Amino acid sequence: MVAVCRGRGKRSDLAVRAPTPLAWSLMSIARVGIVGSGIMGSGIAETAATAGFEVVLRSRSQTTADATLAALEKSLDRQVDKGKRTPEERDQALGRVTGTSDLGALKGVDLVIESVVEDLAVKKELFNELDRITDDHAILATNTSTLPVIELAMQTGRPDRVCGIHFFNPAPVMSLVELVRPLTVSDETLAAARDFAETCGKSPVEVKDQAGFIVNALLFPYLNNAVRLYEQGVASLDDIDTAMKGGCGFPMGPFALLDLVGLDTSLAILDALYAEFRDPNYAAVPLLRRMVVAEQLGRKSGQGFFDYHARK
Ligand code: CAA
Repeated sequence: MVAVCRGRGKRSDLAVRAPTPLAWSLMSIARVGIVGSGIMGSGIAETAATAGFEVVLRSRSQTTADATLAALEKSLDRQVDKGKRTPEERDQALGRVTGTSDLGALKGVDLVIESVVEDLAVKKELFNELDRITDDHAILATNTSTLPVIELAMQTGRPDRVCGIHFFNPAPVMSLVELVRPLTVSDETLAAARDFAETCGKSPVEVKDQAGFIVNALLFPYLNNAVRLYEQGVASLDDIDTAMKGGCGFPMGPFALLDLVGLDTSLAILDALYAEFRDPNYAAVPLLRRMVVAEQLGRKSGQGFFDYHARK
């Protein structure tokens, strides 16, 4: 059966594939494709592989894919050293992950999690391609933290099988996953995404497709205001971080957290929140924008609010 989607989104001429039979369930999800091997993509790959899923990790180049696999091995080695995993568990997890630069290698996966740069045009093009490459039954999910999931769903002929599965940084450690429900998604898809997250050992929450979802809508005004406080000379970086850890029990202060998330990602999140709500709390503080231009992106570039060169 092929239905035709009329009058919704730019690709309203697309043939919408019929929803898969109700009997289909996540129990049939065995292979997961991850697109993007940045902090989040590699963390999600580690999470899924250690939970028992076969993982195809697609990077833009084979060199990056190889480097990501090497970093994954190091991370698992550390867990063996700490006695958190046996050497056999490490080897099994590593054996489940393939690194590739070929998007075509995602044919045959049951679930794709897109985790590329927070740029709507890039993601739309990718969903378009993923829709062509992957099997009809596959769920296409995005790890976006702020962009409209519906825009990605409408790039495909399967908007009922597109949702958000949003992990937190560092993905192997943080227990939360936000399941994002665009207007078009089916209950079966959301249930399958929930099963996947739970099998990964996470505690999922469900949220409407609205910029920032739950966590970032609340977290980023706080982070932005911390930069404002520092810019105004109210206190030093160290003292603001110490205050929020000691005074509120947060595991990291706002500047250590901004450096962990990445200043470029943080700016993209604030810009997307501001674009949707026009709330001044979401208007990025000038210093943050200037630091991104200066390529002071946090841990990933070695310099952010703090200097990481000596710690590498
Ligand atoms: N990968 C795998 N494991 C990691 C890790 C990583 N990247 N980073 C830390 N860990 C593990 C460590 O191995 C350690 O495990 P054990 O205790 O079993 O040995 C554990 O996490 C704790 O790590 P550390 O002892 O080194 O350091 P810590 O106690 O300071 O914890 C932290 C580090 C887990 C990052 C903690 O500081 C924390 O929870 N910070 C807050 C992080 C946060 O708020 N994240 C959300 C960001 S917002 C976001 O992600 C949304 C978005 O869209 C941008």
